[in-house]
Amino acid sequence: MSRRQRKKLIIILVILLLLCVICFSSVIYLKNRNREKDNVSKPSNNGSVVKPNNNEEDPILTAIKNEQYYLERNLSRYLSYAKSNPSKSSKDIVSDVNAHIDSAFYTDVVDTNLDDGLLVLVNKYHKLPDDYEPDLVEMSNIYSYDGYKMNATAYEHLKDMIDDASKDGIKLFNISSYRSFKTQENLYNRYVNKDGKEAADTYSARAGYSEHQTGLATDLNTADENKHFENTKEYAWLKENAYKYGFIERYPQGKEYITGYIFEPWHYRYVGDEVAKYIYENDITFDEYYAFFIEK
Ligand code: DAL
Ligand code: ZN
Repeated sequence: MSRRQRKKLIIILVILLLLCVICFSSVIYLKNRNREKDNVSKPSNNGSVVKPNNNEEDPILTAIKNEQYYLERNLSRYLSYAKSNPSKSSKDIVSDVNAHIDSAFYTDVVDTNLDDGLLVLVNKYHKLPDDYEPDLVEMSNIYSYDGYKMNATAYEHLKDMIDDASKDGIKLFNISSYRSFKTQENLYNRYVNKDGKEAADTYSARAGYSEHQTGLATDLNTADENKHFENTKEYAWLKENAYKYGFIERYPQGKEYITGYIFEPWHYRYVGDEVAKYIYENDITFDEYYAFFIEK
């Protein structure tokens, strides 16, 4: 081979080498670009945000997982709810979803679990059977309007509470406790005829959805918001002491969006001393307590 031919061969080899390097680099570049694209968050079929496919977790997801009442089973609902409510805090997202208010009231209704005994949950998502009649005892007219009945355990504690309150100069009296499905139906229909369905739903339960049908609830002294029971010394006493007897304020002020009812300073629900104390000290609703500690 002549010197000239050798030179030509070397040039061709160098050009081929350069072409190989360029091809190899292009393949690596395109591969990396596609991988980056895949790692960007994208909505799943059900509209919830899917976590990026790398080691860094979405900050809202981390915040949600660190919430005190975080429930693994609600994760996809937290994420969809967070997406449609971007201004809500992680605490509110967890609390709202646990209380089911990511669904409209009276939708996604399930049967109340009657095996929960004194801790049965009845609300706008948990319904009692139409024919449900709990075991009840007659109430004395020392403590109640005539003819009312109540769960025996709740009644024992209510009597203790009313007796102790009277020693402090506080007069408490049951004006409504157990109400049958039929009674509640008549009551609700009466309110609908008077104020319309939308308004009635803010202060009266539909039949099957009232805690009064469990025999575990009591309305004390009044059930009329115009009487402003919240401004009385009786209410102040109950606020401080009801939990010591196992009763909770079931429809508190500021929690209307969770309970689905206006503030009812007169409505107390028996849940037992321990649960009542927890709810009182942690300022949560029974709906939230139930989701976290009882619901499976
Ligand atoms: N007023 C309450 C919500 C009831 O009707 O049971
Ligand atoms: Zn009531």
